[in-house]
Amino acid sequence: MVPSIPTVKFNDGASIPIVIPSQIFLVLLLLRLRFFLRLRFFLRLVLRLMGFGTGTAWLKGDPSAPPLDRNLVDMIKSAIQQGYRHLDCAEGYNTEEELGVAIKESGIPREELFVTTKVIQSIDNVFQAIDTSLKKLQLEYVDLFLVHSPYYAKDDTDLQTTWKAMEGIKQSGKAKSIGVSNFTRPHLEAVLKTATIKPAANQMEYHAYFQRANNFVSWMQEQDITVMAYFGLIPVTYAKGGPLAEPLDTIAKSHSVDASAVLMRWLLNRGIVSVSTSKKTERIQQYFQALELELTSDEMDVITEVGKSHHFRVRLPKPYAPDWAEYPDEDKWCEDMYY
Ligand SMILES: NC(=O)c1ccc[n+]([C@@H]2O[C@H](COP(=O)([O-])OP(=O)(O)OC[C@H]3O[C@@H](n4cnc5c(N)ncnc54)[C@H](OP(=O)(O)O)[C@@H]3O)[C@@H](O)[C@H]2O)c1
Repeated sequence: MVPSIPTVKFNDGASIPIVIPSQIFLVLLLLRLRFFLRLRFFLRLVLRLMGFGTGTAWLKGDPSAPPLDRNLVDMIKSAIQQGYRHLDCAEGYNTEEELGVAIKESGIPREELFVTTKVIQSIDNVFQAIDTSLKKLQLEYVDLFLVHSPYYAKDDTDLQTTWKAMEGIKQSGKAKSIGVSNFTRPHLEAVLKTATIKPAANQMEYHAYFQRANNFVSWMQEQDITVMAYFGLIPVTYAKGGPLAEPLDTIAKSHSVDASAVLMRWLLNRGIVSVSTSKKTERIQQYFQALELELTSDEMDVITEVGKSHHFRVRLPKPYAPDWAEYPDEDKWCEDMYY
């Protein structure tokens, strides 16, 4: 049976690349032969569905941190060499310089890469923010520029004003596509009311233990907004030992892959782009197992249904209780965040 590789295309015509069915056999063949063949064209189409993140484990919160984290540069280069083409960054991670150096040193042509960055600290001037990011990245354009969070906005007008400016950035060519991150449905609805260009994507926490309520994901997919998941590996990281531990172990063993590959495949089969990271070169091979893995519909259902039985979120509110005080309208926000 031919494994299904999902296709993801942005609503503005740009795409996190797609694989057409007739190419699937060739892609799988190339995946098996990639150490022997230099033909990477079809691989790159698939691998952008999985992004390599330079936040979380890598972000430099410490202002006294060395200006260039050589470990991160080397890790990104290793990720690129192993096949990653989609690289995720943000002004807030303070890792754009590392990404820029890694891209230069990788020798891979710019047009083969898909680079995402985000703005939040400089949200009052997104034009300046993109210029600063491009300078740090040593790039002429990014493929995707995201508003990192909606929680700076006092009201819908703030979100709409920012989005207008984001549209200007897309028109300037400095970002091929524009989108948002951590937006709930009410935030997106506010933006859509005045948008002339729809957000291409919403990057948000999404995993088996946090499948989002009220059909939020299917609603975005109906709106042609690509869903990008971070924290997709929560059942084997922060929420290790939860109700999915046993079924995941069984599924992973039966396919001779790591549990992380099963979780990534579960995301990809749902048409969701997965953004993950690692500090270990060898882990990337485990992630790539997802591309060759075929989950049965029963296995998909088990992950979905058992996952739904256990609600767990990393981002606000509870695990970040000290931050919570900043948000006076706590009950409303709690409710919204379940979207
Ligand atoms: N837009 C946003 O607000 C936002 C928020 C968070 C993240 N992000 C983006 O998403 C990226 C990924 O986030 P994430 O770090 O939370 O990703 P994740 O994919 O949920 O977790 C990655 C971590 O999982 C560990 N891991 C993988 N497989 C494992 C296994 N089988 N057992 C135990 N641990 C395992 C890895 O550890 P090792 O390092 O030891 O391999 C790695 O550090 C970030 O770097 C950032 O670019 C965006």
